[in-house]
Amino acid sequence: MKIAFFSTKPYDRRFFDLYNKDFQHEITYFETRLNRDTLKLAEGFECACVFVNDQVDASVLIALAAQGTRMIALRCAGFNNVDINSAKELGITVVRVPAYSPYAVAEHTVGLMLALNRKIYWANSRVKQGNFSLDGLLGFDLRNRTVGLVGTGKIGECVARILRGFGCRILAYDKFKNEVCEKELGVEYVEREALFAESDIISLHCPLFKETRHLVNNDAIARMKKGVMIINTSRGALIDAKAAIEGLKSGKIGYLGIDVYEEEEDLFFEDKTFEIRTDDVFARLTTFPNVVITGHQAYFTEEAVSAIAKTTLENISAYEDGKELVNIVMSN
Ligand code: NAI
Repeated sequence: MKIAFFSTKPYDRRFFDLYNKDFQHEITYFETRLNRDTLKLAEGFECACVFVNDQVDASVLIALAAQGTRMIALRCAGFNNVDINSAKELGITVVRVPAYSPYAVAEHTVGLMLALNRKIYWANSRVKQGNFSLDGLLGFDLRNRTVGLVGTGKIGECVARILRGFGCRILAYDKFKNEVCEKELGVEYVEREALFAESDIISLHCPLFKETRHLVNNDAIARMKKGVMIINTSRGALIDAKAAIEGLKSGKIGYLGIDVYEEEEDLFFEDKTFEIRTDDVFARLTTFPNVVITGHQAYFTEEAVSAIAKTTLENISAYEDGKELVNIVMSN
């Protein structure tokens, strides 16, 4: 199938070219994002392959459909950037990669917890500058601490498994209980308010929906323990960043680790070293000594990127061959 591949990075090309030897799709790589200004590039391509920050709203979909696109192949799990109902109305099939390596995201999540708690980022730069003082580097044992997981799907379950190894008490809030978490990993399901009130560390692993947007807001932060650690490796808009800044300023939030940011679309995945920073909220977040930010890299491991390439190409072949689409997205 002819595929217009948006938001291409050198590593995407490397893995897709490798796995496409088995599929022989005709891929044209575009570095640019898909949006209203760039959609013309997809003219005549049956499939547009997109990532987390491509803009696939109703107006983009209408124009794509008119140009002959029949399929959107997301090479990620989240699909909050695609208007699924409009796609359905237009007869455009949307597929995704529901699981590529929950371990990758879970391990990065715990990496953020450890980096923040033991201040590894500070310690490393101090030692390299010849400063071997321990002042300010005091951490806490994870053992016996209470960690609250919002969402216990594939990634939340992996995080629970790792944290069980550390000897943490694990609370969770989810609309659906995960039996493995409850029966095998000793996770205690509680209401969201109780999770916020009792946890030393809160880690977000639910998708971004209307109902989960800004689930960490001023009200939620007010209910949390003083000095709480908040980790978000899911989607930026789960946290109201302005509320987080107020929480950090007051000391209510003791640590913040984020791999995602609500307005990341204009920042992440690009080298902006020499550009003037215009996002004041993001700029403020970078000034706190107890905030660690990574640029949406939690998924970025050999295993995960290989699985993304393979599953995306399989999804496209299944559509082409009229086979059952196991990874179709039906609604959001
Ligand atoms: P999943 O679909 O396996 O699990 C999501 C869980 O959230 C489910 O158990 C679901 O019942 C629960 N949930 C839904 N609505 C909820 C609500 N209102 N409150 C609490 N829980 C709710 O998804 P998976 O694979 O665990 O991924 C979780 C999220 O991680 C994705 O939605 C995606 O946004 C993010 N992600 C981030 C990556 C990164 O590189 N930073 C990479 C991959 C995923």
